[in-house]
Amino acid sequence: MPLKFRTLACVLLCMCLSACFEPIKDTHPDQVLTKRRALFKQFTRALEPMGLVASGRNAYKPDEFLAMVQDLEKLSGKPWIYFPADGNYPPTHAKPAVWSQPEAFKRAQDTYQASVHALLLAAQVGKLESVQRAMDGVTNSCKACHKDFRYE
Ligand code: HEC
Repeated sequence: MPLKFRTLACVLLCMCLSACFEPIKDTHPDQVLTKRRALFKQFTRALEPMGLVASGRNAYKPDEFLAMVQDLEKLSGKPWIYFPADGNYPPTHAKPAVWSQPEAFKRAQDTYQASVHALLLAAQVGKLESVQRAMDGVTNSCKACHKDFRYE
């Protein structure tokens, strides 16, 4: 292959690869969609091992569990600043209600953060049964917000 041809083929391949590995084209100057989604993924990653304990699949080790809740609590206030007034653009899954009903969206955040705080208190006491109940509170408040403010 002539050198020019090889260079061209390489450039085309690179363009194709970068398109494939970049599922989100974030057009916002502050990349708020990418940032909030990354935080929500961290929510899920933090919650999963706790769910395994709450469902009885993994053993309840109070110290370890408490550390996991502390991590979740640190995350729980973070995504909300990444929903600015100009933050509604494709390919977001957020419903327009996030922007048209800011008070209700704020209430859903507060309910969620209160549920994480309640889980923290339960984890500090360290009784599995109340930890399980508090875990239900957390997962329900994730779901409640998604129902009103996110397309599935
Ligand atoms: C106050 C509302 C609210 C709460 C509480 C909330 N979420 Fe979400 N979540 C959203 C919205 C809105 C989106 C859509 C973001 C977007 O696409 O712009 C979202 C998106 C997500 C996503 C998809 C991320 C992606 O890559 O597209 C995951 C996963 C997720 N949330 C998990 C959780 C978990 C787990 C919890 C609870 C521990 C939770 N969320 C609590 C509003 C909320």
